[in-house]
Amino acid sequence: MQRLSAMNPSAFEIQPVENPATSQQRAAAMADLGFGRIYTEHMARVRYVDGQGWIDAKIVPYQPIQLDPAASVLHYGQAIFEGFKAYRQDDGGISTFRPEANALRFQTSARRLAMPEMPVELFVEAADLLIRQENEWVPPNVGESLYLRPLMIATEAGLGVRPAKEYLFLLFGSPSGAYFPRGIKPVSVWISTEYIRAAPGGTGHTKCAGNYAASLVAQRSAKEKGCDQVVWLDAFQRKYVEEMGGMNLFFVYTNGGKTKIVTPALTGSLLPGVTRDSILAIARDFGWEATEGTISVEDWKRDVETGALSEVFACGTAAVVTPVGEVKSKDGDFLIHGGETGPVATKVREQLLAIQHGQVADSHGWMHRVL
Ligand code: COI
Repeated sequence: MQRLSAMNPSAFEIQPVENPATSQQRAAAMADLGFGRIYTEHMARVRYVDGQGWIDAKIVPYQPIQLDPAASVLHYGQAIFEGFKAYRQDDGGISTFRPEANALRFQTSARRLAMPEMPVELFVEAADLLIRQENEWVPPNVGESLYLRPLMIATEAGLGVRPAKEYLFLLFGSPSGAYFPRGIKPVSVWISTEYIRAAPGGTGHTKCAGNYAASLVAQRSAKEKGCDQVVWLDAFQRKYVEEMGGMNLFFVYTNGGKTKIVTPALTGSLLPGVTRDSILAIARDFGWEATEGTISVEDWKRDVETGALSEVFACGTAAVVTPVGEVKSKDGDFLIHGGETGPVATKVREQLLAIQHGQVADSHGWMHRVL
C-alpha cells in the first residue's frame, strides 16, 4: 500500500484492462454520443484513511464498486462530485479546461461536508493519467469532449452520525456531445416558488450529491408544467433569481450598441460555476460590461417587456451555453428574444468552445495540456 504525500502525487499504479476495446468497438460506442451515457475503460481510484492520508492511488479497469451496507454515504450522504472536460485540440493533442478550478471547488465541497480535502495536484494528476490512458476516447469534433466525473464518498461502515474516517475517490470519463437532446435550441423554464434549491449557510455553493437529489422533484414539477428546466429563487423572499436547474444564468442588456451581461451574485447559496467565471472574463475581453448583481423575477419580466433585456442564457460545463427562450410561472408566461437563440449567447458559446479546442489564443492561461 502506497502513501501519497501532497507534494508527490505521481505514485499511481496503472493496471490496464486485459482486452482493450478495438477501434471499431470504440467507433460504434461513440456513434451517437449524447451526454453521460457511455464510460471509458479505466477509472482513477484513490482511498483516504484518517491517520494514513491518501493511499492506494491506481488507474484500474472501469468496474462496479463494493460497499458495506452500513457505509456512511448510504445513510448520511457524504458524497461530492465535480465535472470538467478534456478537449481534442486543433493540433490533435488533448487539453483540459481549468482543472485546478474544479479541484479547488472539490476542496470547498469536501470542507463543507466534513470530508478530507484532496490536494489539487493529486486531483489533476488523477485526471491527466486517466486521460492519457483513454486518449482514444476523446472525441474529435467541436462541441464534443471527454466529460470527466470525479467523486468522493464516505465508505466507512458505521451508523453513528459523525464524519467518516474512510473515503473513496473515483474519477472516470464519459465521451459526450450535447447535454440537451435538442442541442443548443432555447429551453423553456418554470419559475419555482414552491421549492428552493439552497439557503445561506447551507450547501448551495458546493457540488454535493444531496443538492441534486433535492432538486429532482422541482425539475419533475417543471416538466409537468411543460417546461424543460426549473429556475430557482432565493429562499427568503422567493423573489430573486439564483440558478436554472444545475446551471448559472446570465441576463443580457443591449442599449445603443453597448452590451452588458449580468449574472446573479454569489450569495453563498449559488454554485460558483467555472463556466460562469470564464464567461465574465470573455465578456470583458469583448469590451462588454460584465457584472454580478441581483435580478428579481419582476425586473426580468419588465425588462423583457420594455426591450431592455434582450437575451437570457444558462451556462455550465456540461451544456456550455444554453439560451432560455420561454419563461413560465404562476403569474404568467413570456418569451425572450422571440423564443430564439440570440447573438450574444451564440458569440459567447463559440468563443468558449474555440478556446477549449485550441482554435484561438488562450489569453487567460485556462488550458491544461495533457497530451
Ligand atoms: C454542469 O452544468 O456541468 C452541471 O453541473 C450539470 C451536471 C451535474 C450534469
